[in-house]
Amino acid sequence: MDPNTALPKETRTEIHKAARILREGGLVVFPTETVYGLGADARNGAACRRIYEAKGRPADNPLIVHIASRSQLATLTDDDPPEAALRALELFAPGPITVVVRHNGSISEVATTGLSTVALRIPAHPVALALLREAAIPVAAPSANRSGRPSPTTYPMALGAMEGRVEAILDGGDCDVGLESTILDCTDTPQRILRPGRITREMLQEAGFAVIGPEDSGAGDANREPRRGQAFGAPPEGAGLDESRRDENRHEEVYHAPGSRYRHYEPEAAVHLLEEGDPEGRGNAFLQGADSRSVALIGSAEGIDSLRITPSAREALMETVRFESLDSFARGIFSSFHSFDENGCRAILAVLPPARGLGVAIRDRLSRAGTLL
Ligand code: TXA
Ligand code: MG
Repeated sequence: MDPNTALPKETRTEIHKAARILREGGLVVFPTETVYGLGADARNGAACRRIYEAKGRPADNPLIVHIASRSQLATLTDDDPPEAALRALELFAPGPITVVVRHNGSISEVATTGLSTVALRIPAHPVALALLREAAIPVAAPSANRSGRPSPTTYPMALGAMEGRVEAILDGGDCDVGLESTILDCTDTPQRILRPGRITREMLQEAGFAVIGPEDSGAGDANREPRRGQAFGAPPEGAGLDESRRDENRHEEVYHAPGSRYRHYEPEAAVHLLEEGDPEGRGNAFLQGADSRSVALIGSAEGIDSLRITPSAREALMETVRFESLDSFARGIFSSFHSFDENGCRAILAVLPPARGLGVAIRDRLSRAGTLL
């Protein structure tokens, strides 16, 4: 949706009420162009604490703070914000980019988890922007899913996750991007991508950023590349604290968004990943051994065709979701996971796109949801 779209009167009334709820310390679920967010006043510790409760989120995983405009940045940072952060926002915001900068202490420690930095973003969805403008406060908002589950990218998904836990849920239709924002750490040079998203490394490089991508060595866990089997590397949600993270110099030591340590995005069904081409025929072998109509298959049209699924293996398929572009793949991942669960599928086969451009972010999310066959 165009950020400048004029909103209908009923929507403006809802936004007006929601802005008041936020200012009074309540929780509001609102649409953004990436995923639905679960918002609270970022300066209000008690309100932010309720976000963690509603999500079942580990208390050591900091929240992204949403603002309405670049001019608000200066009110949250102690000295001049880094040039790179201003430039990234100038080029890509409102839009799916989040910048990490040092803060001036005005954000609650509950939202920053005591870090000296804060992750800031200006969302592009017209409902989000109108809400932020009207509330006129910084709004802490993680994705509006229960912790560890796929992020909500449609209004029904947001309702399903948060109804009864929050004071208001705003309907903004389906999210355009479908994957959470790119997180760019601007506290150091070169800037570092802590979480890949719709604003790709290539786009940042073209804009002149000497950015270090998740795929570089030393980027730690930022880029989750697919793993095989059950031995998933990340600890379960709520596992022990990484104390080194609290170090002021943590950027020299830990190169990832704190949340990247947790397992994420898991639907109920087991997710099995395949590389495009599948030279060893693992996809066909898996389907041969599966019950009739029990497996969902998801991937780009090219990726799915590259598997060369045999007619007998096809018997095991309950549903196939083919995306004609990487943008539609990104947009549809989480809502497809949701509908596979609703339809009672027992396993999901997902074909990974090549690791370039938006493919990097899609691989990252799929790799957090499952393991290679
Ligand atoms: O697109 C998005 O970014 C969505 C929408 C709602 O805006 N929000 C979102 O929030 O994805 P959440 O909480 O699900 O993910 C926030 C990520 C976590 O991995 C967290 O660890 C990281 O941002 N983060 C927050 N503050 C940080 C900081 N100061 N330094 C590094 N990473 C940070
Ligand atoms: Mg999230």
